[in-house]
Amino acid sequence: MLEDIMNIVVVGHVDHGKSTVIGHLLADTNSLPKGKLESIRENCKRNSKPFEYAFLLDALKNEQSQGITIDTCRCFFQTEKRRYIIIDAPGHIEFLKNMVTGASRAEAALMVIDASHGVEENTRRHGYYLSMLGIRQVAVLVNKMDLIDYSEDKYRQICTEYTAFLKEIGIAPKTFIPVSARVGDNIAFHSDVMPWYDGMTVLQVLDSFENIQPSHQLPFRMPVQGVYKFTSGGDMRRIIAGTVDSGSLRVGDEVVFYPSGKRTRVKTFEVFHAQAPVEVQAEDAIGFTMEEEIYVRRGEIACKAGETPPNVAVRFRANLFWLGNQPLKAGRSYHFKCGTQKLPLQLLQVERVINASNLNCESRQWVEKNEVAVCTFRLDVPAAFDTTDQLAATARFVIVDEYELAGGGIIVEALEDETYDVRNIRVSAGALSDTERRNLTGRKGFVVWLTGLSGAGKSTIATAVERRLLAQKIPAFTLDGDTLRAGLCSDLGFSDDDRTENQRRAAYAAALLQKSGQVVLVSTISPLQKHRDFARACAGDAFMEVYVKADLETCRRRDPKKLYEKLDTTGIENFTGVDSSYEVPKNPDLILDTMTDSEEYCTGALLDAVLKKLS
Ligand code: ADX
Repeated sequence: MLEDIMNIVVVGHVDHGKSTVIGHLLADTNSLPKGKLESIRENCKRNSKPFEYAFLLDALKNEQSQGITIDTCRCFFQTEKRRYIIIDAPGHIEFLKNMVTGASRAEAALMVIDASHGVEENTRRHGYYLSMLGIRQVAVLVNKMDLIDYSEDKYRQICTEYTAFLKEIGIAPKTFIPVSARVGDNIAFHSDVMPWYDGMTVLQVLDSFENIQPSHQLPFRMPVQGVYKFTSGGDMRRIIAGTVDSGSLRVGDEVVFYPSGKRTRVKTFEVFHAQAPVEVQAEDAIGFTMEEEIYVRRGEIACKAGETPPNVAVRFRANLFWLGNQPLKAGRSYHFKCGTQKLPLQLLQVERVINASNLNCESRQWVEKNEVAVCTFRLDVPAAFDTTDQLAATARFVIVDEYELAGGGIIVEALEDETYDVRNIRVSAGALSDTERRNLTGRKGFVVWLTGLSGAGKSTIATAVERRLLAQKIPAFTLDGDTLRAGLCSDLGFSDDDRTENQRRAAYAAALLQKSGQVVLVSTISPLQKHRDFARACAGDAFMEVYVKADLETCRRRDPKKLYEKLDTTGIENFTGVDSSYEVPKNPDLILDTMTDSEEYCTGALLDAVLKKLS
């Protein structure tokens, strides 16, 4: 069996001969079940009908028992070079729907034109769809040459006219081929009746197409389908399940989930009743367990650390086609489905509605059924997606209007001014970009992250530095653990998961304040290194980690909030440094030892460090 497979689509107006081309390809490559051709010929004879290759396809479709050649919507054949899958496109709407929903993924297209009709409205429309879907490898078959007496002139005219159109939409066809699919001219074999043509046959052109980069070599993407718990007693592990869209993943690889930005490593792959693999690839339906249990939801996209991350954004521009009975318009609530994410969506703007057959553009703010348009959309919350030039599978989306699939599209751009960057932080809010805001305020903002045990002196130092900065007219703000826990994080306790969530919120809040131009002094225990690393990732280079050092005994002695007293009398669960761990910073930017140095000294040292960073 040949390794290489290529998905192709044959498009063209209904009567221009698509099925005949396909029938001939199957027959000429000996891909038909034994005796099939003969029995159809026989059948035609009995019914006094002239034999047509197109009947083959109908007959095969009727008896889908012939799984080797055809299944529900695909036909198979092979050349010496590779195997081919022809995706059946009964009509252009079905084709678009299948392509956009990911039901089929064509890498190349054969476009069939009836030589006796020439370039018609639908021929142009199909060309446009191919371009919209990003299919760049196209060969045009000028079919039914027998009906125009194999005229080279007429053939050339069609080539010129259609080349001009395709050029406008950015498609440079690989070649044009004059064929007569009914007879079989230039399909698998060169035809004697068109000696003026010495180009490729259809089979040769197919073999000349290049396979798109194998999807397992692309960045890893796996939309999370579900998160399942092991059911056996005491096993607390969770399995993240989904189907890999692209790339590959191995045990031990670090995985980043978007849009949350949470990270963990793959511990094991889990497969039902089979030996678990150490590596998985595109198209595998998989489940994996994690080194560290993090809370992940259906809808997130699992990606591999170190590879190109997806965009995380609320606004995007897309090529869209609309199928809904109600026109697409602003002010109505839709749902966006991309991968396994389903999120509320609003139309922001119709940039242009395109007449696919003549490329005329209309500017109006609604899109009617079967129209194609370029639009911008807004989601209620950030979603993770790719753009079509990055990764086709995770750039496709569909729009649901109430319960109906009403449209589909391809994301061409994540919109800048509200784009969330690699670290999952909104690069800028609203209309102002980071740069614009910085230019206007003259300030960059900075996050000073103070970590240490309860009672180490974090808040005392933070507020003292805040005061000194404000006195110098430098906007500063202390984000205190206790303050956050009284409001934004009042739903959280002190379990490991809750602390991580608490830290996630603190990190985002700090990064946002930082973007507003403030020096944000964050004072939370942030017991684990991963908490601090995450906060740093959020703020990028405008961040410093400060270890406020005091051992448990010292903190216990100080006991400013009488917490240690309470711990000894009534007890407090999960107390940091007692029965909940504190990881001393591995590589802090600054250490303030409050056991040996005075409050005044520590404040001064931190202030100096901050001013240096701001200068
Ligand atoms: S963190 O671990 O998630 O970073 P955070 O800094 O927000 O903690 O909150 C710590 C504050 O909560 C302490 O200063 C203390 O006032 C209070 N607290 C209440 N219970 C605990 C506990 N079990 N462990 C630590 N701090 C606690």
